Amino acid sequence: MDATIVSKMQKHYPVLLKEIISVISPQHGGTFIDCTFGQGGYSKKILDFENTNVIALDRDKGSEKIANQLKQNFKDRFIFKNIKFSQLSNLKLKNENIRGIIFDLGYSYTQIKDPQKGLSFDASGRLNMQLGLNSFSAEDAINKLAEKELEKIFKFFGDEKEAKYIARNIIKERSKNIIDTKVLVKIIDKSKKRKNFKIHNATKVFQALRIFVNKEISELIFGLINAAKILKKGGVLGVVTFHSLEDKIVKYFFKSLSENKSISRYSPIVKQAETLFNLIQKKPITPSDKEVSENPPSRSAKFRYVIKKTDFYNFDTDIEEQFRNYMEIENYGDKL
Ligand SMILES: C[S@@+](CC[C@H](N)C(=O)[O-])C[C@H]1O[C@@H](n2cnc3c(N)ncnc32)[C@H](O)[C@@H]1O
Repeated sequence: MDATIVSKMQKHYPVLLKEIISVISPQHGGTFIDCTFGQGGYSKKILDFENTNVIALDRDKGSEKIANQLKQNFKDRFIFKNIKFSQLSNLKLKNENIRGIIFDLGYSYTQIKDPQKGLSFDASGRLNMQLGLNSFSAEDAINKLAEKELEKIFKFFGDEKEAKYIARNIIKERSKNIIDTKVLVKIIDKSKKRKNFKIHNATKVFQALRIFVNKEISELIFGLINAAKILKKGGVLGVVTFHSLEDKIVKYFFKSLSENKSISRYSPIVKQAETLFNLIQKKPITPSDKEVSENPPSRSAKFRYVIKKTDFYNFDTDIEEQFRNYMEIENYGDKL
């Protein structure tokens, strides 16, 4: 979600709901895993179809309130777990017919509006940014990491051109004061030579810190790997992303497991291994103009999906190698 325009919104909208429901087809029944329950927009819609069950996850304990309401209405058809989706493989599944696994990445309207979460640069007070089940906050990162480490976080997770100056000015300032949200925004303003008129000056650094604090890259990579393992043949794996790095990861994972690796054209004809996925649509599905006008943050949403072709449980993927440099940056947090 794009934090710059969130203030114009009044409530939470489930992004691309109609399109996602049409792709996962809950009218045929089965069990669906909603990996990012949030305000329950997708889960509720799926449960409206008879013969469906939903297992919903969210790392934010705050989601439990809405989950309890769904539990009252749908009883055994609905289960909620306060876990991170990288731990999908810890679900004790009893051969459920998993027809769809959906991720709607990022944070919800309720979370950005919660001053305790400290996700927004409009908020005042402590830098936090923990979505739930974290081991350190943005305040720890800003006040304890080395200059070079901060620079890399801003550069790689926020694509921030002035990463170096911002990191340098943070180090100078923190020797005098604890850096909170307002102070960080001031440092960013001071460090940026060129002002950006399209987005708030602090957007990229705040996005970078949120990704780092929540280990969003490793979460996504292990979430995808584990989802691909538990999905049944014919089931749909779908992901809504909100920024280019997330989309790059999802696109790579789907594409690399949908293609036969090229075999030398000089080698004898070899029966090619079956691929894990069917990639129906190469281009992502994006929101209609109507959805964007009703819910401006949806404008950066991209929905990609694949259909699992086999019941394979084990498969080779080099996704960890491909994105190892990003995961190494996330590991700076291990010492905090
Ligand atoms: C954009 S919201 C989802 C909104 C939801 N689709 C709806 O319709 O209400 C994203 C949610 O995913 C949760 N989340 C983010 N990363 C997660 C992770 N690694 N594991 C579990 N939940 C996560 C957030 O706490 C947030 O509630």
